[in-house]
Amino acid sequence: MSRILDGNDPRTILHAAERLGAGEIVAFPTETVYGLGANALNEKAVAKVFAAKNRPEFDPLIVHIGDKDAASQYVTALDPRARQLMDAFWPGALTLVLPKRPIIPDLVTAGLGTVALRMPSHPVALALLRAVDFPIAAPSANPFGYVSPTTAAHVHDSLGDEAGLIIDGGPCKVGVESTVCALTDQHAVLLRPGGVTLEQIESVIGPVRTGEPTQADRRSPGTLLSHYAPRVPVVLLKPGDPLPQPEAGERLGLLSLTLRSDAHGYTRTEALSADGNLLDAAARLFAALRRLDTSGLDRVVIESVPETGMGRAIMDRLRRAAARD
Ligand code: TXA
Ligand code: MG
Repeated sequence: MSRILDGNDPRTILHAAERLGAGEIVAFPTETVYGLGANALNEKAVAKVFAAKNRPEFDPLIVHIGDKDAASQYVTALDPRARQLMDAFWPGALTLVLPKRPIIPDLVTAGLGTVALRMPSHPVALALLRAVDFPIAAPSANPFGYVSPTTAAHVHDSLGDEAGLIIDGGPCKVGVESTVCALTDQHAVLLRPGGVTLEQIESVIGPVRTGEPTQADRRSPGTLLSHYAPRVPVVLLKPGDPLPQPEAGERLGLLSLTLRSDAHGYTRTEALSADGNLLDAAARLFAALRRLDTSGLDRVVIESVPETGMGRAIMDRLRRAAARD
């Protein structure tokens, strides 16, 4: 049975830590999205995460740690760029892919020679990580391919009893997943845009490679095109495109950055921000997509947002939501 417990109650943290120690899975809040966690050093426990999400085993998990110094236990080398980025953005929404030590089981990393490490900033996540004596492997707490959860209720709605215990830490403040940056060769590579912007990363370590993933990067399956997808068909408008009119009898939904006065005949509209602020828009994005997905609509029209700063992560998720492959 899934149970939702208050993350601000210290007894919840103790109970969750015991469950994790016993090889069970626990859903917990981070500032980006909710994660479905297991003891990263216990392969049997990690297997339960893959099973609950119906996640293919070729998709590696992020390993979460509760303090920066722990990183060197799990990776073989922390080059100067890694240290600079950890100092600038940890705890926070940045995941670093680095060469792994053998202590991290192959199931966690899908057999890759690298591990994705993150120290989150959410106080409940940090309390949990500090209450256990192992790192926590956790993907987003949603069925594979679906929209990530940004509230405890989202976790319960889409994973139900599969989630085991759910720790409620309120709505996620960042609202999109962490940025994944690989530091495995001389070029830093952005594998997934996320809560820390490319501009922020480049201001610390200089130019970072982006764009279409190369053959090697493709091993980060977050780069699979149809990911984060709602079930309702989605149309992503290009900047400047006019709003389509609903066809006769069509139940059309709209997701726009700010409120639009020209959405005539739309059954449901969602605006992500009062004034076009992209940080607010990211924080509201997944909840709005879920509401549109469960409103019995035939189609959802989505407006593009400017692709700078947090807009890059938002547009990445919107393109995936619109992709059908
Ligand atoms: O914000 C987040 O990152 C959330 C919270 C819970 O931390 N987690 C999350 O996990 O989004 P998940 O599993 O949904 O996405 C992890 C991404 C995937 O795209 C995966 O392929 C990539 O990180 N990844 C993990 N390990 C990797 C590795 N060793 N090399 C390359 N990519 C890796
Ligand atoms: Mg995910």
